Amino acid sequence: MLTLGVNIDHIATVRQARRTVEPDPVAAAVLAELGGADGITVHLREDRRHIQDRDVRLLRQTVRTHLNLEMAPTAEMVEIALELKPDYVTLVPERREEVTTEGGLNLLGDFPRYEEVVARLQGAEIPVSWFIDADEAQIEAAGKTGAKFIELHTGKYADASDEEARKQELALLIAGCQQAQALGLRVNAGHGLTYWNVYPVACIEGMEELNIGHSIISRAVLVGLERAVREMKLAMRGEV
Ligand code: PXP
Repeated sequence: MLTLGVNIDHIATVRQARRTVEPDPVAAAVLAELGGADGITVHLREDRRHIQDRDVRLLRQTVRTHLNLEMAPTAEMVEIALELKPDYVTLVPERREEVTTEGGLNLLGDFPRYEEVVARLQGAEIPVSWFIDADEAQIEAAGKTGAKFIELHTGKYADASDEEARKQELALLIAGCQQAQALGLRVNAGHGLTYWNVYPVACIEGMEELNIGHSIISRAVLVGLERAVREMKLAMRGEV
């Protein structure tokens, strides 16, 4: 059955805008789970721009579904993952200046190091997922690292400028999923998925989990705003 991993990084982004204590990603994870999230995803970035070490530590204790830790395949992050033992790790490329993860990882670049990262994490029983584009050579390399999963980057599909381009990107995702499964890899997908474009991806045979953040948090801000304002008016009257 297809599952939903809810990425709550943006909750921490709002908190870090003031370097205060609210909103707390730990509370957001509880609410996401109450809403039916099958997993909680957080990206601990090298620059700690949103999620903090404290968040991952607490989430490890409070998440009742599964915790997917997104991180760059660096020595620092591997040590943190080995200590905290998330339910799985998604390895992503990371550039300091990017607004969000901009593309899949290039596994052909530094293959021996990537193989070693997988061996260390999976040796500690933390399954590894590679965030890669739906590209034949990348999928093959992911299989060779021994990782259990890949996460197909759906950004190009989401950003397609017209229906024809979107169809082509969807076809690549379908082919990528089939290739990965034939290699024994399990397949997740994510990035840029919204309430309007998720369904065709959700229909891909063999897809296991979709990781979605921006669209869900954006909607939460809007559907929750009316109530939040009403409650502030009550608070101003001493009624909350
Ligand atoms: N998957 C990965 C690997 C990501 O880096 C992100 C963004 O942090 C997502 C999924 C979620 O993307 P979005 O926020 O666009 O739904």
